[in-house]
Amino acid sequence: MKPHHIRDVLFSAEQIQRRVDELVTAMQQDLRGDNLVMIGILRGSFIFLADLVRDLYPHGVHPRIDFITIESYGSGTESSGVVRIVKELRTEVTGANVVLIDDILDSGRTLSFASQHLRELGAQTVRTCALLDKPSRRVVPFEADYVGFKIEDAFVVGYGLDYDSHYRELPYIAKVTFV
Ligand code: IMP
Ligand code: MG
Repeated sequence: MKPHHIRDVLFSAEQIQRRVDELVTAMQQDLRGDNLVMIGILRGSFIFLADLVRDLYPHGVHPRIDFITIESYGSGTESSGVVRIVKELRTEVTGANVVLIDDILDSGRTLSFASQHLRELGAQTVRTCALLDKPSRRVVPFEADYVGFKIEDAFVVGYGLDYDSHYRELPYIAKVTFV
């Protein structure tokens, strides 16, 4: 890791929780049907997915849940441009209504690759949800169906997002400033 600090909080735990509640309100109608599978892209989505499914529960949304590990980043803050599946799903998704969950939409490579992959596995519908979106960074044209917050081009950590495997446990989202 390069010398840095994380003093600038972009979204507090309370702000995130409020936005997750709003997202759940927006998506619960769409997700009520049968054969719903919510798939978290590891590792960044683990907290977001956990909050989403618990919030969806009182709305009668009962998904199967699985994870897929996709890597695009090396150990720095820049994508290598190469996206690959490191750990495949274990759930049968043929005919399923799939919702892919990621922490952040950056170049767009991960979610566009994952959506295509799920279609190839036979999913009937594939929806996508990202907590954060950096539209100015897009390399592959891609819009998620549900987005928590659009942000400027900054490297951020917390609430599942890491810098070199650190800071995922922060309950808030902060900007990484290199010094
Ligand atoms: P994309 O494939 O370029 O859209 O990048 C998506 C992945 O890059 C995310 O799942 C994150 O793992 C990682 N990523 C992109 N921007 C950030 C960031 O600001 N902080 C931490 N991880 C990031
Ligand atoms: Mg990730």
